[in-house]
Amino acid sequence: MSEITRDVVIVGAGAAGLTAAHELQKAGLSVAVLEARDRVGGRLWTDTIDGAMLEIGGQWVSPDQEALIDTVAELGLETFSRYRTGDSVYVGPDGTVSRFTGDVFPVAPETERTIAEITERLDAMVAEIDPDRPYAHPRAEEWDTISWDAWLRAQTDDDEAVRNLAFATGSAMLTKPTHAFSLLQSLLMAASAGSYSNLVDADFILDKRVVGGLQQVPLLLAERLGEDVFLGQPVRTLEWSDAGVIARTDGMTVRARSAILALAPVLYTRISFVPALPRLQQQMHQHLSMGFVIKVHAVYDRPFWREQGLSGTAFSPYELSHEAYDNTNHGDERGTLVGFVSDRNADDVFRLSAEERKERILESLSHYYGPEAKNPVVYYESDWGSEEWTRGAYAASFDLGGLHRYGGDLRTPVGPIRFACSDLAGAGYQHVDGAIRMGRLVAHDIIEGNRT
Ligand code: FDA
Repeated sequence: MSEITRDVVIVGAGAAGLTAAHELQKAGLSVAVLEARDRVGGRLWTDTIDGAMLEIGGQWVSPDQEALIDTVAELGLETFSRYRTGDSVYVGPDGTVSRFTGDVFPVAPETERTIAEITERLDAMVAEIDPDRPYAHPRAEEWDTISWDAWLRAQTDDDEAVRNLAFATGSAMLTKPTHAFSLLQSLLMAASAGSYSNLVDADFILDKRVVGGLQQVPLLLAERLGEDVFLGQPVRTLEWSDAGVIARTDGMTVRARSAILALAPVLYTRISFVPALPRLQQQMHQHLSMGFVIKVHAVYDRPFWREQGLSGTAFSPYELSHEAYDNTNHGDERGTLVGFVSDRNADDVFRLSAEERKERILESLSHYYGPEAKNPVVYYESDWGSEEWTRGAYAASFDLGGLHRYGGDLRTPVGPIRFACSDLAGAGYQHVDGAIRMGRLVAHDIIEGNRT
């Protein structure tokens, strides 16, 4: 059992925790980062599976994500653009496959008009939302007490329009059924990316990747922190008072003046707080839950879809894999497709055997790309739902009504404890960019507090 003393103890070595630790260290404060897993990065994990380098967790960088872009540049990492030459594919309600370009799905003209009108309405609403204070909007309560699905269905009875509008923040982002979260939560998701239109523009939101993998961001930050990062150290107990904190793992005790909890909020309950967190936090944290999506990787001997003039970008609210993209690595001769299976669909396929699940998912990909999609040389499913220290993907969001009820309290410190995670962010919410922003914010709060 080792015992150390630092200015700040950081729980979690994901992008948020490592950013905070790095900022604090630069300001001359001493830190210890305690990480439950035997690796750093949390939801960023680049690994080689059967000879193929795969981004098991987060990977894409969009042009508005300035905090991430700065960090990537500062760490000397290079980016490359997602392959997007050629036609995208859409599968309609009767299984008809259509090719298209741009971000307007090839639907009937009336449906297209409806989608455009509602998108315009949504963009106007999103423009009024401050992503850091969505709960402060004058209509926050009204918009937080109607589900995303119910609001859309009140705008039109065109089911295809509703499904296409719903999935940008539903299956594609919050990864929960659209009846399970509010219109306000959906507007926050869009506001965090600048607009609803940005979210549905795959060329914007899924713009670039990092050569060699995005996990290099936490790996390089951890390298700078050196021996101040402790792996395999799940924090079990956090004692706190005005005098400071004592974090205890199975093998270590860290005494510090402040603590930063840089883990997904659904995991706060894994820590015993002594004394217990205040009533408000104990209640509030129960109203946040993880979405769930399976990220499917299929690697082929060549990017065969490109030969057919396809970009690899594919969407359908009627398909098991509601979206898929060309995810070929930089400089790789082989071709990789990445597909996503979200919420209820993900639950359903996890009730099948691994073989049946693979068959069903590849069948869905073949509807976009043809029968060759059924025969990858490497196949892998990122299943973050079974990861003890994450428990879902991509991130956490409030249940219906939770955002206006508790949003204003989410980041409020409790004594010497501060909270930082992508799941608490405004700009960059649920993304690595948001994690970095939250890490910087809490670090600067502590640094400022130290000066006064
Ligand atoms: P994160 O969860 O990464 O880190 C928290 C850390 O705390 C973990 O390392 C965990 O092990 C540790 N921990 C938990 N409990 C602990 C305890 N008791 N003691 C010690 N340590 C503890 N984003 C993006 O920008 N572009 C993208 O393309 C994607 N795509 C994507 C795909 C998939 C499949 C996933 C799962 C996620 C994404 N994301 C994404 C989201 C992005 O990866 C995510 O928002 C951030 O990496 C979260 O970083 P944080 O540091 O906030 O939490």
